Amino acid sequence: MKLSVIGAGYVGLTTAACLAQIGHEVFCSESDLAKLAKLQNGVMPLFEPHLEDVIKGVRAVGRLRFGSTEEAIAWGDAIFICVGTPPLANGDADLCAIEGVARAIAKRATGYRLIIEKSTVPVQTGAQLRKHLSVHSTNGLRYDVASNPEFLREGTSVEDFLHPDRIVIGADSPRAADLMREIYEPIIKQEFTCPVHSGCPKRKDPVFLATDTNSAELIKHASNSFLAMKISFINMVANLCEVVGADVTKVAEGMGLDPRIGPAFLNPGIGFGGFCFPKDVQAFVRIAEKSGCDFSLLNEVEKINQRRVEHFLDKIRKELWVVRGKKIAVWGLAFKPNTDDIRFAPSIALVKALLDEGAEVNAYDPEAMEKAKPVLPAITYCSNPYEAAEGADAIVIVTEWEEFRQLDWDRLRSAVERPLVLDGRNMLDPTEMTRRGFHYVSVGRFPMTPEQNASTTNPVQSFASAEG
Ligand code: UGA
Repeated sequence: MKLSVIGAGYVGLTTAACLAQIGHEVFCSESDLAKLAKLQNGVMPLFEPHLEDVIKGVRAVGRLRFGSTEEAIAWGDAIFICVGTPPLANGDADLCAIEGVARAIAKRATGYRLIIEKSTVPVQTGAQLRKHLSVHSTNGLRYDVASNPEFLREGTSVEDFLHPDRIVIGADSPRAADLMREIYEPIIKQEFTCPVHSGCPKRKDPVFLATDTNSAELIKHASNSFLAMKISFINMVANLCEVVGADVTKVAEGMGLDPRIGPAFLNPGIGFGGFCFPKDVQAFVRIAEKSGCDFSLLNEVEKINQRRVEHFLDKIRKELWVVRGKKIAVWGLAFKPNTDDIRFAPSIALVKALLDEGAEVNAYDPEAMEKAKPVLPAITYCSNPYEAAEGADAIVIVTEWEEFRQLDWDRLRSAVERPLVLDGRNMLDPTEMTRRGFHYVSVGRFPMTPEQNASTTNPVQSFASAEG
């Protein structure tokens, strides 16, 4: 099919490339002219594993082109809207870009078009789109609007697109539902050449869930909010573990063995970030408020998350005693591994607080440093974790990049001023770190070393001895 994708962010670019990969002829537009020029010249504007290779492949066979919004509107029988919906000051999603695209489609498109909202939007946006397309239509446009929420994680978005658990579509006409099924047919049947895995193993076919537009829109916000809730929940359990003397890893493992709970998204740490969870939780609360539903449960999810950085800073303060003048190696700036995205990354609040308290910060991230430089100009950017650790009073792990598991700890032991590691992602093994000669502090895994055991009052033990 001839498909258009409007907006070449993480979601739009992955969508365009993967739709072309499964056989469609795709035109992708981008309104940021510098970014568009990069894409037209074969330069990636963002880091996303496998995406560059997929784009190269489909461009080489002429199935993916980049250009203006006007060209995209003229091209596709179906048009995916993948523009940004950033948060407004009050937490609402800003729908300006979506409205602008709807207006442009209404004015320029002719004949029949399927208009698909893929951007994360509040419930009833589809209904608004229909209304505005009618109001502004000047060329006798006939259309259907469908919702097709994305469940793409940054860092694995190509894989998530091609091998999803589910494809959700919200369509209010049989024609729209049939077209959506046709577009996704190769993925539903898992019949395409997978560019990621050579000899890609046959996966479980994804569920194709067709529903109405409002429900599809809610599925997206409810899913992200639920996952965020799981993270905040386990973060509170981690706090409790630290106080009573328990290991959150074991608690999460024990919980996750129950199939009704599941093991995913029970990793405690310095909090969730990125451009999805923080804004989607806020937007969902606002949607509920406006609909007269008290969803204050999600306010708590957000509050717990906001306190994560402060909680972690307290650990740093406790270990360093005086932060002023200390040299701190920060490993990882991206909001999660395998991306260069630092939007709403916990690293930003953490580094700013350390600088405010007079610390010197030497940071290293394998991919996110270019994007971090304008946001965090007052730190030293290092070319590897060893350089960052040189003379450091503490190594602080903020993002669990795989390479931090493969380091020469003897070399690091001699490079640092003090062998102290504060791990905000629980990525290293406490016993191993002690064996390597480091004082190791992580999240919710108290008490793991004899030193930590001895230096902290364990209320459980105190209670036991009082009982006598
Ligand atoms: C998230 C969802 O997982 C996708 O399904 C969704 O499509 C996407 O948002 C979106 O709305 O576009 P993403 O933000 O890329 O994807 O990243 P996640 O892997 O979900 O992680 C989000 C944050 O939660 C990260 O900061 C991560 O470090 C944190 N996290 C995740 C935890 O702290 N603990 C966990 O157990 C899992």
